[in-house]
Amino acid sequence: MMRLGSPLSTSAVRVMLLGAGELGKEVAIELQRLGVEVIAVDRYPNAPAHQVAHRAHVIDMNNADALHALIVRERPHLVVPEIEAIATQALMRIENEGLAEVIPNARAAQLTMNREGIRRLAAETLGLPTSRYAFADSLDELRQICEQIGIPCIVKPVMSSSGKGQSKVNALADLEAAWEYAQTGGRVESGRVIVESVIDFDFEITLLVVRTNGPEGKEETHICQPIGHRQERGDYVESWQPQAMPPKTLERACEIARAITQALGGRGVFGVELFVRNDQVWFSEVSPRPHDTGMVTMITQPLSEFALHARAILGLPVSTELLTPGASAVIYGGIEGTGIAFEGVADALAIPGTDLRLFGKPQAFPRRRMGVALAYAGEVGLARERARECAAHVRPVKAPN
Ligand SMILES: Nc1ncnc2c1ncn2[C@@H]1O[C@H](COP(=O)(O)OP(=O)(O)O)[C@@H](O)[C@H]1O
Ligand SMILES: [Mg+2]
Repeated sequence: MMRLGSPLSTSAVRVMLLGAGELGKEVAIELQRLGVEVIAVDRYPNAPAHQVAHRAHVIDMNNADALHALIVRERPHLVVPEIEAIATQALMRIENEGLAEVIPNARAAQLTMNREGIRRLAAETLGLPTSRYAFADSLDELRQICEQIGIPCIVKPVMSSSGKGQSKVNALADLEAAWEYAQTGGRVESGRVIVESVIDFDFEITLLVVRTNGPEGKEETHICQPIGHRQERGDYVESWQPQAMPPKTLERACEIARAITQALGGRGVFGVELFVRNDQVWFSEVSPRPHDTGMVTMITQPLSEFALHARAILGLPVSTELLTPGASAVIYGGIEGTGIAFEGVADALAIPGTDLRLFGKPQAFPRRRMGVALAYAGEVGLARERARECAAHVRPVKAPN
């Protein structure tokens, strides 16, 4: 473990967050509570975590030289990626030079930022069950591959997140549009797409896995109760915990989650996404960091996924105990504008068992996640109702100048 100190002094433990969105903001707050010096980095000013950090920087994190230079200047002990779009060569270099420790490690960041890297590791190296898949670099190749995978199938840019550039192909006639859409939604111009067979799941879950050091520095793995979630257009709209499932199926899911996170290694929280039908479980993807659907743990667990991440990266003991069933529901911008205001907050919070997070993003667009409603109850069904109702009350509006 790391010896904690006082921020802004020579004893400080310094942590640099690469990505300062809503998930990074909560990690920053948890680190602040432990007296850690927090440096938040994003590509635009006044990002959510910038507002709760000791220092804030705005750089292009895809620029390896700029990223390296900033790390040399700040000399953090830990570098904690919060997003996928980062120049992973810079992370490799930082690790090799021993300049800072990358969480969980540079290889995990590199493998998970590209669907090809993580899919090949899961399916081909570890033999985990996944959807059938293949890769295509052109529309022609995509046509051939779709015959092999079958229709319907799902086409995704290899480098994208939050469902960007992703579409379901129901007929051969959809292929060209799917290819074009993937080209616009990808993070880089590599053009490569993954084609996946559609898994007809009963439900999908996230398993939050925490890798940390136990007593005497021994590696320990803890897994939170399963989180169920609903996605629209590849973006999460609602999550709940615990997702009810048969013990045997949960055991299988945990086995898969343990295998993939052990292969990635390092300390911290991982979000393992799995599809479930009857007693079958498929691996879908994994984030080597807290997961958006895991925001529900801010109301269900004594240690949220963000508190768990803070503890784990520092090598401290954790507990993944669940306190109560609960749910989260996303609050979208709905409108476009800067410096927006929120109406209906008092009505939202008048609903019993609810809480809110408003992320403080300087700019809204219709599909941008601006906040999240949280709720607890004696059972998940009621918690979901409360969270949805709470979210529905909150209305982003243009503020008068
Ligand atoms: N092969 C698949 N079969 C069925 N549903 C899928 C498949 N791939 C993705 N989805 C749906 O789309 C969502 C987003 O896909 P995902 O691969 O997780 O992309 P992202 O990296 O953008 O989150 C999933 O959570 C799931 O609901
Ligand atoms: Mg996903």
